Formats: sequence, structure tokens, C-alpha cells
Amino acid sequence: MSTTVILIATTAAAWLLTTIWRRAISAPKVDVPYLAFEGDNSAGRYIAEGASLLAQGYAKLIQPMEEVVAKAYEKEMPPCPDWTSINPYHLIAQSFARIATRVLVGPELCEGRWLTLSRDYTNSLTKAPGIPSVLAVLKYRREAAEILRPVLEARMAELDNRVTSTSSGKGRRVSGEHEDAIQWLLEEFRARGKKLTPDTLAQSIFVIMTAAIDSTSSTALWMLFDLLDHPDSLAEIREEIARVKGGDRTFVWTRQALGELRVLDSLMRESLRVHSITQITVERMAAQPFTFKDGLHIPKYSQLAFPRFPHGLDPDVVHPDPQTFDYKRHLKKRTGDDATKFHFASASEDTLAWGVGVHACSGRFLAQEALKLIFVQLLSRYEIKYDKQPAPDKMMGFFCAPDMSATIFVKEAAWV
Ligand code: HEM
Repeated sequence: MSTTVILIATTAAAWLLTTIWRRAISAPKVDVPYLAFEGDNSAGRYIAEGASLLAQGYAKLIQPMEEVVAKAYEKEMPPCPDWTSINPYHLIAQSFARIATRVLVGPELCEGRWLTLSRDYTNSLTKAPGIPSVLAVLKYRREAAEILRPVLEARMAELDNRVTSTSSGKGRRVSGEHEDAIQWLLEEFRARGKKLTPDTLAQSIFVIMTAAIDSTSSTALWMLFDLLDHPDSLAEIREEIARVKGGDRTFVWTRQALGELRVLDSLMRESLRVHSITQITVERMAAQPFTFKDGLHIPKYSQLAFPRFPHGLDPDVVHPDPQTFDYKRHLKKRTGDDATKFHFASASEDTLAWGVGVHACSGRFLAQEALKLIFVQLLSRYEIKYDKQPAPDKMMGFFCAPDMSATIFVKEAAWV
């Protein structure tokens, strides 16, 4: 190619990018997080460094979560140059509570009382019903409202200063600076012309925390037991993590890189198939009477649920060998016709683990990324082995829990 052709091509590309940039800055804002260059946010930088901005934006989805997991390990994992006994449930629950806190209430409350308060709250909720536990729940909710009040007031003031008018006349967010449930709820309430109070905010956040923390932490503990019970999976997943990191000591996990951990993903889904904190799922009440094609009639106000656990072991649904723990079962399916269907968080027809339809678990993608980050930290930095065999799962009505008091041995890995 001649120098003139290269020059014309380069000039045309620069003109095109400048035009796109001009249009972009004058275009109406969409309600998604925005990212701009710090300092000089000129067209020139978009031309020269556009790709780096894209990469930054992509990484920002995951990066705060990776940082909080690293912090949780720093705080919760004792120094272990030799084999040291730890309670893995505590480590996992703390790591996940930090992630949930970061995602739900933002960086302001990531340290301090909020973390222990949300644990106290969920613990008092899971205690046997009775006046003392109800009073405790209400006490913790009031305390949470007081902690949230200054954050909420600051966010409200910020929003008042920053709203712009859209064609519908409603104030919308112009910056994605705060990406957490406080902001989402605040904006949703405003869009509906309602005021979000600290008490309603505390209640809404605790509802999500309750759905999130116990389910994810118990699921993670079962996964850890499955890894220890299948040392071949442990070795293969360690290799997979090392392969994706490619020996880069400054490696930062992105959503795409976590997606490449396919063996880990498959083990997680297999573990979710054979263990479940609830024996039933998709609990619904018929708002209207309904008759199925085969004549089965559901009267109005009937309460229905589906058998989550037996479904996962049904030979008509799972084949071959539903009784066998095969950590590559879902990986093998992903190499078949539909590679997007059998990843950990997919609510496909071979599982009831996430529920179904519009009310399927809305936190499953968060659970997927969080669990991978927790296991990446553990497996790439530590050797692990059983201390003693965990006690059998504990059944309480339709609920089931792994042995949360089990201990394992950990040791800082020589390869770090
Ligand atoms: C491994 C962890 C988890 C499991 C196994 C799980 C499982 C489930 C199941 C079975 C349902 C009922 C779905 C239905 O009725 O159709 C559900 C609902 C829900 N989950 Fe999860 N979940 C997990 C983690 C999370 C996390 C991390 C969050 C939040 C950050 C979350 C938030 C919710 C919410 C808000 C609902 C109610 C959805 C609705 O009614 O529309 N879950 N989850």
C-alpha cells in the first residue's frame, strides 16, 4: 500500500472517530454506567486510546468484586506457612457477605458494623420463630436504617444536583458512579414518584441479602467438599486457572476470563445438581383457576411447588448416571449443540436449581461470578485438604444445610 493510501485511510478513520465522538457527547444519555477519560476527555484520546477505555469498562464489572474477595482473604485467612486448620464456611460466608455488601450498598459501608449487622440480621431470621427473634430482627432493621440514613441522604442530594430533564420530563441518572442497590432503589422510587425512606431501604436490602448469603455460602461449601472428594477435579481446575492467567502476575479477572473457567463452571453446576438448600422450589399460588391440556385442574389460591432435589436425580432428566458425581458432565454438554445453555447460571430445563420463568433467581449471575472469584483465590494461593470428614448434611423440614462447623487444613502454596 502506498504512503498516500495509508495517509488517506488514517485521516478517514480519524474523521470517522471524531464524528462518532461528537455525536456521542451530544446524544441523549441512556440509563447505563458511563465511563470517560480522566482529565483530558478529548476526541484525540478516544482516537488514540479508545480500546483501553473499552477494556477498563469491561474490567470494571468484575474488578470491585475481585478486590473485596482479596480483602476478605487478607482479613479472614490466618498466615499458614504450615498446614493450619480453618473453618471454610466462615471464610466463604465473609467473602460473599463482602461481595454482596459492595454490590448492594456500595463502597461506603464495606467496612465496619454493616458487615456484622447483616450477619446478625440473617442469623436472627433463621432462628426459630418467637417474640425474642422477631424483636431482634426489628432491632437490627432499625440499626441498619440509621447506618443507611446518611448514605441515602447524600445520594438524594447528589441526585437532586445532577438530574437532567429527558423528553419524558423525569430526572434520570447521568453518571454511573454509584452502581449498587441503594442507587437502583432510589431511582426506581423516584421514577414512581415515591420517597425512599431509610427503613424501607433497610428492609429491601435485607430481603435481598437473606436470599443471597445463605444460599450462596452453603452452595460454595458443598462445592468445596466436592472438590476435596474429587482430587482429580481439584488438580484440573488449578491447571485451568493457571492457564487462563497465563503466568501474568498482574492479571486482573474479567467477566470473559471467568467465563473461560469451564471445568470449574461445570463442577459448580454438578455440585448444585446434587446438593440443595431447599427440597422444593418454584413456590407459587394460583391467582386464577387453571386447567392444563391433560385435564389437571388447579383451583384458585392453590399453593404449588416443584420437587427440586428429586428432579436433579431423575434419570429422565439427567443422563447418564444421575447418581454419579461427574464434574465434567456439563462441560461435555457445552461442547454439543447448545454451548450457552449448560453453564452454572443458566436456568435451563434440566435444572430447577434457579427456579423458572420471570421469578427465576435474579442473583444467579452474581452468585456465579462471586463463587468463581472465591475459588480462584483459594485454589491458586493455597493447598487444601480435609481435617476430618464433614458431618452429614442437616435436614430441617424442606431445608438442608452442609456441615458449617467442618474444618479443613490450608497451607500457603509453594507455587505462589
Ligand atoms: C447459589 C446461590 C443461589 C441459589 C441456589 C438461588 C436459588 C434461588 C431459587 C431456587 C429461587 C426461586 C426461583 C423461583 O421461584 O422460580 C431464587 C429466587 C431469588 N433469588 Fe436466588 N439463589 C442464589 C443466590 C442468589 C443471590 C446471590 C441473590 C441476590 C444477590 C439472589 C436473589 C434472589 C431473589 C431476589 C429471588 C426472588 C426472585 C423473584 O421472585 O423474582 N439469589 N433463588
